[in-house]
Amino acid sequence: MTDGPLAAVIGWPVHQSLSPIMHNYWLKQRRLTGAYVALPVAPEDFATCIAALPLMGFAGASVTVPHKEAAFALAAVLDEDARITGAVNTLIFKSDAITGLNTDAKGFAASLASGLGETAAAAGPAAVLGAGGAARAIVLALARAGAPEIRLINRTKTRSQALASALGQFAKIRLVEWGDWDAGFAGAHLLVNATSLGMVGKPPLELSLDRLPSEAAVADIVYNPLETPLLKAARARGHRTLDGLGMLMHQAVPAFAAWFGVAPEVTAELRGELVRALPRV
Ligand code: ATR
Repeated sequence: MTDGPLAAVIGWPVHQSLSPIMHNYWLKQRRLTGAYVALPVAPEDFATCIAALPLMGFAGASVTVPHKEAAFALAAVLDEDARITGAVNTLIFKSDAITGLNTDAKGFAASLASGLGETAAAAGPAAVLGAGGAARAIVLALARAGAPEIRLINRTKTRSQALASALGQFAKIRLVEWGDWDAGFAGAHLLVNATSLGMVGKPPLELSLDRLPSEAAVADIVYNPLETPLLKAARARGHRTLDGLGMLMHQAVPAFAAWFGVAPEVTAELRGELVRALPRV
């Protein structure tokens, strides 16, 4: 039993989420009362369930696939990153209104800086695979970190165009056809996979790294498996790599702070807990 604040991760499905392990680890470490649970909610029930949560003592919720756009639509107050990306991954229930945040861009930026160094993005052109909500956060983070050019490589051109028009004011974005790896990777200093390809249960990401300069680093937002086939191929070619766990941990920091009132820390010990919780491959 707990008499502290409650929080949840809401997704469909949600059983695979590492968020309960992460937030409950922080609660225990900080000796806070409260609890964090996973709630599977079907898309058609999302608004009803969100409306009920504050009545049951929830301080807020993490929102994951496929609800990030629905969360954006129902939050009365939005932070800047939510407005820019059109997606919300964190809800805070206040007495007068629901606030929606998008913490993915800052989460990726923190992961990039701690894993690959503060200048990883500014060093040269970056190639980003994908044009969904996750890609929007990645492009925003890279733009703020000083990437001089972002090559956006996505299967569906209309989605790349939509991303470029939403974020073109922050970055120099060049659209590259999906499959034109030569144009995307030649001279790039960083490659980021912001699609779900390579995740367990999804198709593999099939591409050629031949034109990627050896000094380029390769990052993946996917963390299950921890070493995706992309990261494995990059490591075999001698590139520095960054897995998706850093972004997962860092995006959760402001959420935990908002609900439980204490800023938690991203540590090697937390990472170890999450790695242990991942299915063995
Ligand atoms: P999220 O909000 O998590 O980014 P999303 O909006 O569904 O999720 O975006 C998923 C990304 O993966 C998109 O860029 C998608 O490409 P499309 O815009 O062409 O749909 C990309 N993606 C998913 N499956 C793919 C596949 N089989 N081949 C190439 N790209 C794929």
